[in-house]
Amino acid sequence: MPRPHILITKRVFPETIALLEPHAELDYVANDDGLTTDELVESARGKQVILSQITDRLSREVLAKLTDVKLIAQIAVGYDNIDVPAATEAGILVSNTPGVLTDTTADLAFALLLAAARRIAEGHQYIHAGKWTRWTIDLMMGHDIHHRTLGVWGMGRIGQAVARRGLGFSMRVLYHNRTRLAPEIERELNAEYVTQDRLLAESDFISVHVPLSEKTRHLIGERELRMMKKDAILVNTARGPIVDEPMLARALREKWIAAAGIDVFEHEPTVHPDLLACENAVLAPHVGSASVATRTRMTVMAAENAIAMIAGKRPPNLVNP
Ligand code: DGY
Repeated sequence: MPRPHILITKRVFPETIALLEPHAELDYVANDDGLTTDELVESARGKQVILSQITDRLSREVLAKLTDVKLIAQIAVGYDNIDVPAATEAGILVSNTPGVLTDTTADLAFALLLAAARRIAEGHQYIHAGKWTRWTIDLMMGHDIHHRTLGVWGMGRIGQAVARRGLGFSMRVLYHNRTRLAPEIERELNAEYVTQDRLLAESDFISVHVPLSEKTRHLIGERELRMMKKDAILVNTARGPIVDEPMLARALREKWIAAAGIDVFEHEPTVHPDLLACENAVLAPHVGSASVATRTRMTVMAAENAIAMIAGKRPPNLVNP
């Protein structure tokens, strides 16, 4: 029987390759640039599976050309780079890596929240710039985290993990979600379900955890930023286009809100220059899931989805079953 073929669109870990090699012929693009759309279409010829990353643009137009592909095994929980309805129409399965990165991403959201509130990045730069010459009573004063109100927008796995961390800081937790959580989960998280507007108006910290879709694009824009408290802090570890980036920069500059902790951007890896100019924005280069253990687990999980597919089994993490 001919061996199946897998296209790996960008560099992964040696362990991932070792896991896949016994099962298939690999076309491994072992660099960080990946493939252009045309190259991807060309390389996908004769491949049953593509191991994709968030930087691969798998639009309707591209998917229609992937006539041999049966599964796109995405190495991420988010899959807004893939037109899933178009994949379904084309008979292509799509899998992702849910669960394994929940706590790691929640840790990063909390790290950004803490850093923005207590001005860690500003302090770091201040010392490195040789500006710290004396201790003063109001040097680098920030905002308390403990006993304040955490608003979680999007209460899926990662949102819930962030809420759990809030409890450790004795925070009051508000949340907004498409659907309300079961009463026992609300009790466990001590979380109160509120409308979007109450979340915006009452939270000291707002952490965003909704998936990117046409409905959530620019979910946080001028109206929402103006509704937030003057000393509020916004954290986004979900997807960049959920927040209107130039408007956020304006809100930070004109002090509609106190600060922001941002891991994801509208046009990655380009960050809006206005945002770069904001001292009260703590920025990270889309590293929510980037711990050694978690990134390794994500690639293993994607490889396991691929292996299941070529073995004629149902991949365990399908998003369009
Ligand atoms: C995800 O998994 O969606 C992250 O954003 C990338 O690791």
